[in-house]
Amino acid sequence: MKKIKIPSEYEQWIDSSGITFLQSLGMNTNYFVLDFGCRHGTYTIPAAKVVGNDGRVYAVDKDISALDTLMKTADELDLENVKRFDSSENIHLPFDTATFDMVLLFDVLHLVENRRSLISQLYNVLKHQGTLVLYPRHHEEHMQMSLDEVIKMAERSGFHFAMKTYKQLMHDDQLIQDWVLIFHKH
Ligand SMILES: C[S@@+](CC[C@H](N)C(=O)[O-])C[C@H]1O[C@@H](n2cnc3c(N)ncnc32)[C@H](O)[C@@H]1O
Repeated sequence: MKKIKIPSEYEQWIDSSGITFLQSLGMNTNYFVLDFGCRHGTYTIPAAKVVGNDGRVYAVDKDISALDTLMKTADELDLENVKRFDSSENIHLPFDTATFDMVLLFDVLHLVENRRSLISQLYNVLKHQGTLVLYPRHHEEHMQMSLDEVIKMAERSGFHFAMKTYKQLMHDDQLIQDWVLIFHKH
């Protein structure tokens, strides 16, 4: 009897639901996207599918082996629009001012020591009218901040808060529901 392989949640995310998730946040064809703290590419790979051949996704992480895994996946899927940048604990983004249409900051803010510096750098590399999508998982237990305080922190770096939206998303390779924050650079 022929065996039918049922795709895992993660495979479905990479192939379809991750794509519609990012499109629902405003990501579009030809976008230049920065995925800061991308790990093995849960958001980078669907983003590369959304932006297409003329777009780019810059995948930034300090974890070399996670980036190796991500680039192997991108290679297997023929996604030539994924570019890797190996970061360090002391974050210095090498991109020009106003490079990106969208920045993804998913589940990483609590791990960064100098959050204000990171958010200011992200503001700088975003284009005018660009979007920061922030998923501040663990903001309460690791940052001792409410969602409103996280919003105020981003606003202090110049961002305009657009909305918070309750979404199904991927966390540690599992689907969960949580709040995602959307900001714009005006
Ligand atoms: C919990 S994972 C989130 C991965 C991915 N954004 C997601 O939501 O699936 C956090 C990632 O941030 C990275 N990270 C933490 N501090 C960093 C720093 N200073 N510079 C670059 N990456 C960092 C970690 O190496 C890790 O891969």
